[in-house]
Amino acid sequence: MSLYELILSRRSIRQFKPEPVSKEILEKLVNAARLAPSASNLQPLEFIVVAEAGLRKQLFPCLKWAGYIAPEGNPKPGHEPVAYIVVIVNLQVKDKGYEWDAGAAVENMILTAWAEGIGSCWLLSVERKNIKEMLKIPMNYKIDSVLALGYPDEKPVVEDMEGSLKYWKDKQECLHVPKRKLKDIIHFNIF
Ligand SMILES: Cc1cc2nc3c(=O)[nH]c(=O)nc-3n(C[C@H](O)[C@H](O)[C@H](O)COP(=O)(O)O)c2cc1C
Repeated sequence: MSLYELILSRRSIRQFKPEPVSKEILEKLVNAARLAPSASNLQPLEFIVVAEAGLRKQLFPCLKWAGYIAPEGNPKPGHEPVAYIVVIVNLQVKDKGYEWDAGAAVENMILTAWAEGIGSCWLLSVERKNIKEMLKIPMNYKIDSVLALGYPDEKPVVEDMEGSLKYWKDKQECLHVPKRKLKDIIHFNIF
């Protein structure tokens, strides 16, 4: 699959198979994040890989899934993520404007995972205080976001947006994700 095809076929995944993701692949994802663009090359981000079953069980209730259709978009019992990568920021290195670095790093991880057949969901709706305590994250670090990972057990489909931007599930529990049409967002030369 070309990189372009990989990008087009990627969707956020919220139902996973109980199959583990290897440590080798998890390391590969963080390595892809490490080499992402970084403003002034400051590299304020670090990554906590959470794959241990006890910690995963504690982390799961700290995450909020698919707000528009909650709770229907939640991973069902037995279909929870099998690993997480918690993206943290060293505030002593950078305390403002690190979100662009995080965006580039997380997208690198999402696409690297997808190339390995691993689905992911990038989560910003997370209980940062609880997670910080649970993972013993030092004071001078902030949690940016959490990437949930696992082999996909759903196949969401993209739709041309007609009115509403809210994704929905049909009777077969397939998630439909509306995207704005190319002609509505592209501007050549002048607006
Ligand atoms: C910055 C950011 C934060 C997100 N936070 C959440 C989240 O907290 N929970 C969730 O279920 N999905 C979250 N998502 C996933 C979006 O809901 C998803 O990208 C969007 O619905 C489009 O679907 P797609 O990723 O399949 O194209 C987030 C996505 C981004 C880019």
